[in-house]
Amino acid sequence: MRLRDKVAIVTGSSRGIGRAIAVRLAKEGCKVVINYHEDLKAAEETKELCGKDSFAIKADVSKVSECKDLVDETIKKFGKVDILVNNAGIVIRKQLQDFTEKDWDITIDTNLKGPFFLIQYASKHMQNGSIINISAARIVKHRATTATYAASKAGLASLTQGLALELADKKIRINAVAPGPTRSGQYETLPEALVKQVVEAVPLKRLGEPEEIANVVAFLASDEASFVNGSVILVDGGYHVG
Ligand SMILES: NC(=O)c1ccc[n+]([C@@H]2O[C@H](COP(=O)([O-])OP(=O)(O)OC[C@H]3O[C@@H](n4cnc5c(N)ncnc54)[C@H](OP(=O)(O)O)[C@@H]3O)[C@@H](O)[C@H]2O)c1
Repeated sequence: MRLRDKVAIVTGSSRGIGRAIAVRLAKEGCKVVINYHEDLKAAEETKELCGKDSFAIKADVSKVSECKDLVDETIKKFGKVDILVNNAGIVIRKQLQDFTEKDWDITIDTNLKGPFFLIQYASKHMQNGSIINISAARIVKHRATTATYAASKAGLASLTQGLALELADKKIRINAVAPGPTRSGQYETLPEALVKQVVEAVPLKRLGEPEEIANVVAFLASDEASFVNGSVILVDGGYHVG
């Protein structure tokens, strides 16, 4: 129980890595705000797993007004916010010539603009807190058809480093976790042959589990990481060196 009575917002926590993070933070003693976009049923399942002190809020993080509402509702419900995990993210896999302006906007707005404004709003209410941005190992290990996704996640890693300078005055630490191929939404939809190919490129020869990402997030949220700030931590079974 390293995070007893802390209040945490975890975006995109109805399923996948976000759910594992929400459950782990709840086990550490947090009151968790579970954010979802469309899947209320899945969000309620996460809430069930997190226990009675959790709360589910629908908000589309690609919309700045909804980011503000998410923070405002958290303050209304719990009176404070200690931890923000910017986990919600999407990937649109398309060749350069097929990628539309709409694809660009939804990728950048969800993966980069939303996290920035959530940090802006949430940090107004934070003191001695911790912000964790979920980037991706794609920022250092590229693949055709995911250049825009990688650019959005590299932007998020860069925001993490730049904002560490501004947030330090309030003793807020900000770090990023960059997962490699992990068994959750983004990999469930891929053809089996492609997943096999990716697994071959991971030195540990397997996908990561969402709980293995959540372990690192819980560490970064805790006082054990009290001197870790402005860092981007790869959690990828060595994928980036493979
Ligand atoms: N899985 C991987 O291998 C991998 C690797 C590197 C990085 N990542 C990053 O890790 C994070 C989680 O990935 P995942 O694979 O667990 O994803 P996932 O299973 O596809 O789940 C995505 C989550 O984000 C939510 N979401 C999507 N768009 C949203 C929006 N506009 N506003 C609010 N919530 C939104 C979804 O909510 P609904 O259920 O309501 O739609 C869902 O809870 C993402 O940022 C992803 O880029 C994943």
